[in-house]
Amino acid sequence: MSDVYKFLIYRKKSNETESRYEKFEVPYRKGMTILEALFYIQDHFDSSLAFRYSCRGAICGSCGLTVDKAPQLACRTQVSSVKTSKKPVKLPEFNFGDHIGWNEGDEILIEPLPNMEIIQDLIVDMEPFWKFYKEVEPYFAREWKDTTPESHQSSEAAKSIENLVYCILCGLCWACPVNAEKKYYLGPSALAKGYRFIADNRLSEEHRQEIKQKVWDEDGVPACEQFFVCNRVCPKGVKPGTAIKQIRDKWSKDE
Ligand code: SF4
Ligand code: FES
Repeated sequence: MSDVYKFLIYRKKSNETESRYEKFEVPYRKGMTILEALFYIQDHFDSSLAFRYSCRGAICGSCGLTVDKAPQLACRTQVSSVKTSKKPVKLPEFNFGDHIGWNEGDEILIEPLPNMEIIQDLIVDMEPFWKFYKEVEPYFAREWKDTTPESHQSSEAAKSIENLVYCILCGLCWACPVNAEKKYYLGPSALAKGYRFIADNRLSEEHRQEIKQKVWDEDGVPACEQFFVCNRVCPKGVKPGTAIKQIRDKWSKDE
């Protein structure tokens, strides 16, 4: 085993028009994650390397990036497993620059998440992701004066939407080819969140109808082309593509 890990990293400052790729070598350490390797590079070679993180424990959803052309969480991906682990199949080919000279067998390629504007280096603008998420209104709305007893949910009902609750809003599923093509596509996670609330028995009927109208908008469920890339890349097993299919199968637009 080599005593260093080799990285090829996408770089672009906010004031630059051209991107480039830079090579770095990080000493081998057992159990090192991609996020820790980025810290090492920042500490030892280039303090300006920009990337996001917060929890370091696959909870906050901040550290999404593309590793060897597969969207992943930097804090959850072990460097030693990048070349040996099975990649999600049938992902679209993401290419941020031409002729990057990537030695695929030897170098770990780190790029930003696809289909989002790049702000700097590995940091992308997630504003559209949040905007569409908010448009679905994925929350319980209750007037503070409303003193009716709390609503209950059976354990079976909770179980039926449990995997959808695990979404950490990391944006990895924005790698969907429809997001690449359609600027206004609500995206897999927002639609999955819509399903999570529509299917929740505690939601008011009025709010349920509002969310249904939104997810059935032409930029919502009808725009999904059922690639299921979202299911393959999601680090939390949310299966947003399956949730979108369930919306199609269970509820018509005007129901
Ligand atoms: S559905 Fe999965 S990939 Fe998409 S934002 Fe949620 S956790 Fe991330
Ligand atoms: S740092 Fe929070 S999910 Fe990776």
